[in-house]
This record gives sequence, C-alpha cells and structure tokens, in this order.
Amino acid sequence: MLTLENINFELEVEERKVPILHDVNINFEAGKMYALTGPNGSGKSSVARVAMGIYRQTAGRVLYNGEDISSLGISERARRGIGYAFQHPPRFKGMPVKDMLELAFKHSDGYNCQVLRDIGLCPDDYLERTLDNSLSGGEIKRIEIATLLAQNPRVRIFDEPEAGIDLWSFEQLIDVIGNSHREDTITVVISHQEKILNMVDEIILVRDGTVSMRGSRDEIWPQIKESAECGCRKSCRLEEKIYADCPR
Ligand SMILES: Nc1ncnc2c1ncn2[C@@H]1O[C@H](COP(=O)(O)OP(=O)(O)OP(=O)(O)O)[C@@H](O)[C@H]1O
Ligand SMILES: [Mg+2]
Repeated sequence: MLTLENINFELEVEERKVPILHDVNINFEAGKMYALTGPNGSGKSSVARVAMGIYRQTAGRVLYNGEDISSLGISERARRGIGYAFQHPPRFKGMPVKDMLELAFKHSDGYNCQVLRDIGLCPDDYLERTLDNSLSGGEIKRIEIATLLAQNPRVRIFDEPEAGIDLWSFEQLIDVIGNSHREDTITVVISHQEKILNMVDEIILVRDGTVSMRGSRDEIWPQIKESAECGCRKSCRLEEKIYADCPR
C-alpha cells in the first residue's frame, strides 16, 4: 500500500510561497488500477512527484507498505519499487536508448527489446538512437513508457501516457498498460482520456491542489462531466477577482 497522508506542498517562487497541494490523502492498494484526473494545473503531476520524491512535501507523510519514506530520495524510492514515467520526459544528450533500457532492466530479468516492440517502436531503428532532441515528442514518450515497463516496479505511475501518442497507437498503449498490471502492483495513470478512466478500478479527481472526489467510474464519471468548469476559474481566484466574462 502506498499512502499519501495529509500532504501539503508549497513552492518557493521569487521569495513567495505558492501553495500547490493541500491536505491530500490517498491510499493506493496493491492489485488496483487508479486514474488521477482533473483540470490542467490542479496538481496531478505534483501528487506523482511527491510520491516519487521529486518534490518534498512541506507537511504530511508518504508511507510505502507501512514504512515512512517521506525523507527518502528518488533512487531510494526506486529501489523500493516505485517508478514514474514523466509527463514531459527529460532528454539525455548522448545517452543511447539501449543504455537506458539496460539500466532499467538491471533489477529484473535481463535485457530484451520486447518493451520497445510492445510500445510500437522497432528496436533496430531505435536502440542506437540517443535520447536527445532528435527524437520526436511521441517517440521520447514511448521510450519513457517502455523504460518504466522494463523497470517493472511494484508501483508504476504513468503521467499522461497518451500525450503525443498518435490515434493509431492509442488502443495499443491502453492494452500495454493494462496487461502490465498484476495482482501485486499498483498502477496509477494520470489521464484525461475517457478510455483510460474506463479501464481503472478507481478514479481520483484532483481539483485546486486536493482530492475532491474518488470512487468507481460509474460514481465519478457523471459528476466529472457535470462539474466541468472553465479553466480560467483557478487563475481568476488566484488574482482574487471574479472573471465576469467567463463563458460558462
Ligand atoms: N515552478 C513553478 N512555479 C510556479 N508554479 C508552479 C511551478 N511548478 C508547478 N506550478 C503550478 O502548480 C500547479 C500544479 O501543477 P501540476 O503540474 O501538478 O498540474 P497538473 O494537474 O499535472 O496539470 P496538467 O493537467 O496541465 O498536467 C499549476 O498551477 C502549476 O502552474
Ligand atoms: Mg501534469
């Protein structure tokens, strides 16, 4: 079980504290698939980053199988079996795809190219390529997902895996993520896609930096549709003014 307990997170921007997350409480249970969804800027990636140790919470705790891992860094959490595929994967100039996969497979059953094929990339074309700007957005995203699949961590968090993936490959992507899920894994997919929300056990709606609803697809989906609001509202609130021209 991965638990985020009373998580608050503030960023310091130009000597000003900007609240990003407040009172986030989530239990992720083994064997279940979850979707984190919510408006742009609501804090979904920040939740994932706190879980992975990329962001350090201002208050609250992160527990993994009963152990308080709040003070552990990214590598220590990765060693414990937590993995994250970035929404915007970093580029590593000069690092070949095969080296990245070799590193990813280190803790499992040896090097193989199947993860690339699974995600729709021909190993012959990509193993020698380097993870720099020469790869397209969709290609780097696929390699990021393949790397997480190769790591095969107990907790796998995919941050908008569909972003940049063409329509023809979308169904294949859903299958790959769904098929990689096991009884002893926690799969968390951050997504706005109805098809992804349809395949999970539980949907968690993040709004304004906190969890506003969670439940099964049938419970949550109608409420999400009903409560969809104009994206300008959040920034208007930050500016402490009412956006009178809001079209909705
Ligand atoms: N360095 C920063 N400086 C200021 N604000 C930041 C910074 N990093 C993140 N934020 C803000 O934190 C909020 C949450 O960002 P986050 O990336 O978690 O949102 P998200 O729900 O993943 O959005 P999206 O659906 O667009 O990916 C946003 O309003 C974002 O602008
Ligand atoms: Mg995000």
